[in-house]
Amino acid sequence: MDEIAQRLDELQRLGRTRGLRVVSGPQGPRVTLDGEPVVLLCSNNYLGLADHPRVREAAAQAAMQWGAGAGASRLVSGTMTIHQRLERRLAAFHHTEACVLFGSGYLANTGTIGALAGRGDTVYSDELNHASIIDGCRGSRADVVVYRHRDVEHLEWLMRRDEGESLSGGSVDRNDGRGGRNSAGRDACRGHGVRKLIVTDAVFSMDGDIAPLKEIVELAHRHGARTLVDEAHAIGALGPGGRGTVAQAGLEAEVDVVIGTLGKALGSYGAYVCASEEMIRYLINTARPLIFSTAPPPPAIAAALAALEMLEEKPERVQRLRSNARVLRRALATEGIATEDVEMHIVPVIVGEERAAVGLCEAALREGVFAQAIRPPTVAKGTSRLRLTAMATHTAQELREAACTIARAAREQELDLAATGAQPAAGDATTSAAADTEADAVTASAAEPGLARAA
Ligand SMILES: Cc1ncc(COP(=O)(O)O)c(C=O)c1O
Repeated sequence: MDEIAQRLDELQRLGRTRGLRVVSGPQGPRVTLDGEPVVLLCSNNYLGLADHPRVREAAAQAAMQWGAGAGASRLVSGTMTIHQRLERRLAAFHHTEACVLFGSGYLANTGTIGALAGRGDTVYSDELNHASIIDGCRGSRADVVVYRHRDVEHLEWLMRRDEGESLSGGSVDRNDGRGGRNSAGRDACRGHGVRKLIVTDAVFSMDGDIAPLKEIVELAHRHGARTLVDEAHAIGALGPGGRGTVAQAGLEAEVDVVIGTLGKALGSYGAYVCASEEMIRYLINTARPLIFSTAPPPPAIAAALAALEMLEEKPERVQRLRSNARVLRRALATEGIATEDVEMHIVPVIVGEERAAVGLCEAALREGVFAQAIRPPTVAKGTSRLRLTAMATHTAQELREAACTIARAAREQELDLAATGAQPAAGDATTSAAADTEADAVTASAAEPGLARAA
């Protein structure tokens, strides 16, 4: 058996094989999946704009006016008036001086982190950050220091440790991914004007919880670090007018870099960075995925522009998403499935073992509810789950019935989900990453340190 067949075999043995499911027609609260009608409960089309007639129309018109593709990278001849228009609009939306578009959130994160940190610099990263952040950290060649999930005290301890202060209490194993770091350049980053960057998801993609931004920004100020906040799952879902968690916390003037995606609540494809005019000029000159990749296609940009206009015109959509999230969470709780009673639209239903999560997903699917199973290495070992997402366009009845279906499927699979809603213990994630088999690397960038996360 050759190496590729062996790796596929290994994934099969671990219950980790993945395949592509096919949706016919546009993305909506109900879709046809592999030929069967289902309620869609795992899409990031949070506001239902991907399939909105006005957004589709904007894309179609843009294709006629500007063509299907940009034809070149931004720095050659790929920057078109439609790119500039959206950039101006996004900068105004986020109350920042400037904005630059990227091809995707993955490229925005890897490109921006790579531009803001290099050999000898230090990046502090939450252990549950998205895979694109993890890959950005790894690719930057900076020292990567992973702090426990949302644990600001741990982050501060690590920053002070790195500044050479002697602290009593607590211990950090430097090599196991829990606050450990690559050895290269460690000494170089101690107070010699070397760059420090704290990077975090705003809303964590697999758990739906929020980063403690106020405390992070305070720490950053105290320790001379920059901050990068990835608002991928927060734009259109949280904050005043759907402007995200940075706006919600009143930190628009404090956070150095805000990253947003066009592929989730804004219903299109692509991403952007909002920051000071100087920072954006710097990224245009240094971020490799921006320099060396074709500019995003005009129809996608026009679609995002239309979606943004719609969000600004009717911010009630955000409240609708939030109240739907609560309906879904309460319906799950009524069915005996552990969930927090909050308005967060990403709802993890923790199952535990990989095969059990897949079994639950398949059983729900047979009953017409599609909620994808998420397994290691995307999440920590022992915390495989269904990652449910509410959309503003679901009806309350659809959500209640879906919760009922999932609960029935769980009973059919003899799963007790009453006590499994707890977050993984901090550190489990990184421990499991270290313990992952090599086969994991086939499906994601097995994160070291931290886990590969994907949505
Ligand atoms: C937190 C986070 N950041 C970035 C990305 C990547 O965005 P994109 O899909 O535009 O590449 C994702 C995608 O799921 C994400 O969840």
